[in-house]
Amino acid sequence: MKTFSDPQKLQKWSEARRLAGARIALVPTMGALHEGHLSLIAAAKRRGADEIVVSVFVNPTQFGPKEDYAQYPRDHRADAAKCRRAGATAIFFPTPANMYAPDHSVWVVEDGALSDCLCGARRPGHFRGVCTVVAKLFNLVRPHLAVFGQKDFQQATIIRRMVRDLNFGIDIVVAPIVREPSGLARSSRNAYLSDAERANALALSQSLAALKPGSWAAQKRRTERYLAAHGLKVDYVEAVDAETLAPVKSVRKGVAVLLAAFDGKTRLIDNRLF
Ligand code: PAF
Repeated sequence: MKTFSDPQKLQKWSEARRLAGARIALVPTMGALHEGHLSLIAAAKRRGADEIVVSVFVNPTQFGPKEDYAQYPRDHRADAAKCRRAGATAIFFPTPANMYAPDHSVWVVEDGALSDCLCGARRPGHFRGVCTVVAKLFNLVRPHLAVFGQKDFQQATIIRRMVRDLNFGIDIVVAPIVREPSGLARSSRNAYLSDAERANALALSQSLAALKPGSWAAQKRRTERYLAAHGLKVDYVEAVDAETLAPVKSVRKGVAVLLAAFDGKTRLIDNRLF
């Protein structure tokens, strides 16, 4: 497995592999890799990628000033070992300084149709940071396909739109949520949870599992009550059209139910696509 930290070296290598006819996959991550991330590498493999590039970068521009940028878990050595075992062929560990020039001034911004709601409404500037760094990674790697997780449902929807609207010509694959045996969605942020918080967090997947097709209003109230009864502070509970993220009044095929809640100080998200 190749290791890069210099963006230009990665770009040169990837371009040479592309010219040699290799099918290139990109798996963008912020590291602290878990089985959810490894499933993204597996999805790239199943799609016949010859080169699977995993980027590991805690992107400062997608964190708000009061968020967990400084304490976000970082373990390059463990991440590299996991990537190697999972079959990645290259790993990219850039630094903030080599990703962003001191006078960086050009951003990729979704105009709000998809990013003013849900996490975008609670985390101002988050999707500007995500779109910008993902666009930069696309330009560095020029992959044929890129794999994202369904757990970040709104992110995947916005990236798909960015790829369509800016003609990146990259196939976006969205891999299903990977859960612990308890049902808890795998997340690097689960590492922050105490045992008691971990037990409370199960209310997220349990309440999603209890949902049924049909009218949303009563199910929304029931879900909010269930999360609160398990000690979670609800950030949002929404049913939306999976393509447009517009709120809907009933749960049916093509609808995603998205949850965000604070478990102690940790903000957790989960979702279910009908
Ligand atoms: O989903 C993530 O881990 C990040 O938002 C991403 C896509 C790697 C961009 O920093």
